[in-house]
Amino acid sequence: MDRSLATLLRSLQASDYPDDSLRLLPTATNLLSRLSNSLNVTLLTSHLMSHDLLYPQPIELSRCRQIFSVFYTAVLRLIEDKQNPAREHLRSHLSVGEWVKAVVHGADDKSPRWRHTLLIGGLLLAFQSRNFEELRPDLRNKLEAALVTASNLALLQKDSEPNCELAVIFVLNHSFPILSHYHRAQVRYDLLLPVLVDATFFSREGLEQAYWIGAVDNDTRQSSGQRFNWPVNSTSFRKVTEIKSRSLISALGSLSRLTACCIDNVQDPMLIVYSTNKIAEFARNLATSWRQNKLSEADPREEAEYLDQETTSKTFPVLLQLLRDTMFATVIILRSVLGRVLCDPNLASDTTAPGVAMQTLHILRDTYFISHRFGLISSSQYTFVNFTSIDILSRYQAQSENFLETIRPVELGRIPLHPLDRLYDLFFLNTAEHFTLIASPRLSQELLFNAAAPYVDPRGDPRLGEIFEAAHSVMLAIVAAPQNAEVAANNMPFYVETLLQSFPRPLTARQFRFAVKSIVRLAAPPSKIAVSMPLMQAVILDLLRERMEHASEDLLPHNPGVSTEGDQPLSEKAVLLLSVIDCLSSLPIPLLEEWLPLAADLLHTMRNSSQKQQCQQRLWETLSDDEMDVDRAASCVAWWTSRGGREHVKFGEQPEEQDYMMSGALQFDNKL
Ligand SMILES: *[C@@H]1O[C@H](CO)[C@@H](O)[C@H](O)[C@H]1NC(C)=O
Ligand SMILES: *[C@@H]1O[C@H](CO)[C@@H](O)[C@H](O)[C@H]1NC(C)=O
Ligand SMILES: *[C@@H]1O[C@H](CO)[C@@H](O)[C@H](O)[C@H]1NC(C)=O
Ligand SMILES: *[C@@H]1O[C@H](CO)[C@@H](O)[C@H](O)[C@H]1NC(C)=O
Ligand SMILES: *[C@@H]1O[C@H](CO)[C@@H](O)[C@H](O)[C@H]1NC(C)=O
Repeated sequence: MDRSLATLLRSLQASDYPDDSLRLLPTATNLLSRLSNSLNVTLLTSHLMSHDLLYPQPIELSRCRQIFSVFYTAVLRLIEDKQNPAREHLRSHLSVGEWVKAVVHGADDKSPRWRHTLLIGGLLLAFQSRNFEELRPDLRNKLEAALVTASNLALLQKDSEPNCELAVIFVLNHSFPILSHYHRAQVRYDLLLPVLVDATFFSREGLEQAYWIGAVDNDTRQSSGQRFNWPVNSTSFRKVTEIKSRSLISALGSLSRLTACCIDNVQDPMLIVYSTNKIAEFARNLATSWRQNKLSEADPREEAEYLDQETTSKTFPVLLQLLRDTMFATVIILRSVLGRVLCDPNLASDTTAPGVAMQTLHILRDTYFISHRFGLISSSQYTFVNFTSIDILSRYQAQSENFLETIRPVELGRIPLHPLDRLYDLFFLNTAEHFTLIASPRLSQELLFNAAAPYVDPRGDPRLGEIFEAAHSVMLAIVAAPQNAEVAANNMPFYVETLLQSFPRPLTARQFRFAVKSIVRLAAPPSKIAVSMPLMQAVILDLLRERMEHASEDLLPHNPGVSTEGDQPLSEKAVLLLSVIDCLSSLPIPLLEEWLPLAADLLHTMRNSSQKQQCQQRLWETLSDDEMDVDRAASCVAWWTSRGGREHVKFGEQPEEQDYMMSGALQFDNKL
């Protein structure tokens, strides 16, 4: 036997503590790459694999990484030696192929399978990193096969040693991108998936069930005045930074893609249900811990007021970033879950699909404080997850109602004080809007209507603009649902009155116009609302006209609570007139004929010429576009061409008998 090998093995045997053994690893690495006798290579490898002191329990990722590095680095050194003539006297005489085979032989029955994954993974990744061409394809193929076999067996035997599955996760995560499709398909995803979910969300090397978020509360103290401080030197902040730097968490993206890939491929569909439930459990803990944390009591818009400099610039952003990464990872996994639900008949069954959809929505709700803050809601993955789960669940009436009941606002009929509760209300309203078609009239009235009611209060705080919009959308969806004719009739007068008072604050011009137009369309004959309240349309138009008499022509201020991007600045008066014009296409012909000249009159009450022109433009569009049906369009054409409409719009009211065919008169395309 090689003398230095004999010395090394003796030292390994003699070491009593893990640290003593670990100190020998650099020597072992060096030696491994330079031994020229394949039996010696195998012998050393076998010792490194079976020497228990190198693998103290419970198994930790950092230790796994050290062993992995031995093989990874040995390969790099072997290659360098071969390529560098100056190292001729040092280098191993074995060919790369012989050397690899000798190392792999050392992964024998004396050591457990999970350790073998570190060895094979180290070899594969090292060759890959150097783009090494001398590794023959058949050998590479064998390594890949061996890695997958060792991983599968290790996962099967994972209960033999606590946390040994971490090694498999570590290696598969790194080597997955370089495995061939054939070998990827051989991975036992059914064994890998639960292990991954557990390691990521629950384990001591992962997110640890998120309980540490609550512990921040203890370290957050009032510093000066009304400001709070969460210091950099607190235990909880150190914990957060430590978690963030863990290897599973610092690359949460790749881990979640691996998890998503497992979901795409598992054979037992119940594992998908299991994983979704586990993530839902995690999300619930996350939400509870966040509430226990004082930092959740500051509305994100007011954080600068309530948190001090150190907190807003140093500690809090770190926590938020970790939460954001967590949220992203969750959505990537859920996207695969819903993808499977859509195309796997077992999962799409009536016994499974609504449950998975409901759990997904619970996860979105529990993490809404993160996604809302970061605007992740508009990302395509989030939209897919959200939309698909609403779509699936809303096919099941009982389960949908049950879900809405479980996420109902804490205090129905009141705007809660805690910003987190208001956020949940926003989630509730945004979600409930999509269930109005199947919710029973009773639920619509008692739960949905009452949940929305406090947020349509026209005296409300305009900073809650986003929730106001959501509440109005729910109201409109309730009255629009065919089964709700009675609910609609009961609430319409209240709603119309509130709506008109809600503009220009708290509603934006866009939302106001949308709501008025929707209501007038719903009140059009032959709807049930028109039967019970035949004057509704005329009343609304009259109210708008009355409002215009006193309305200001100053431009509306920007509302900080909602995004008004893309909206043109307009005055209150102009918006009221535009609302009248929006309604024309839903009026029955006699009312339309009455309102065309009235709209033209109102146009000439506008003093600001640029706004007047915008309204005029909108009127032409309404008359000439496809918005009107054929009969209404005919009526508009008649008014425009032979009853003075054109001149009325252009020049104001004209005496009836004048000659209308003035030169330069405006045209619009007649679609008849
Ligand atoms: C709260 O913080 C103090 C020190 O700031 C510490 O001694 C105590 O253990 C903490 N309590 C909890 C429950 O974390
Ligand atoms: C953190 O630092 C401040 C001073 O900067 C000190 O007063 C406090 O005791 C320190 N807290 C801990 C937990 O070390
Ligand atoms: C997983 O693999 C990727 C590369 O594919 C790497 O960037 C990341 O750090 C790995 N994660 C862990 C936990 O090892
Ligand atoms: C989910 O999607 C629906 C429909 O696109 C949307 O109205 C709702 O606001 C979304 N929910 C959340 C929480 O983003
Ligand atoms: C008229 O309205 C436009 C916006 O459409 C605005 O920019 C302008 O300042 C207004 N003019 C007056 C005199 O108020």
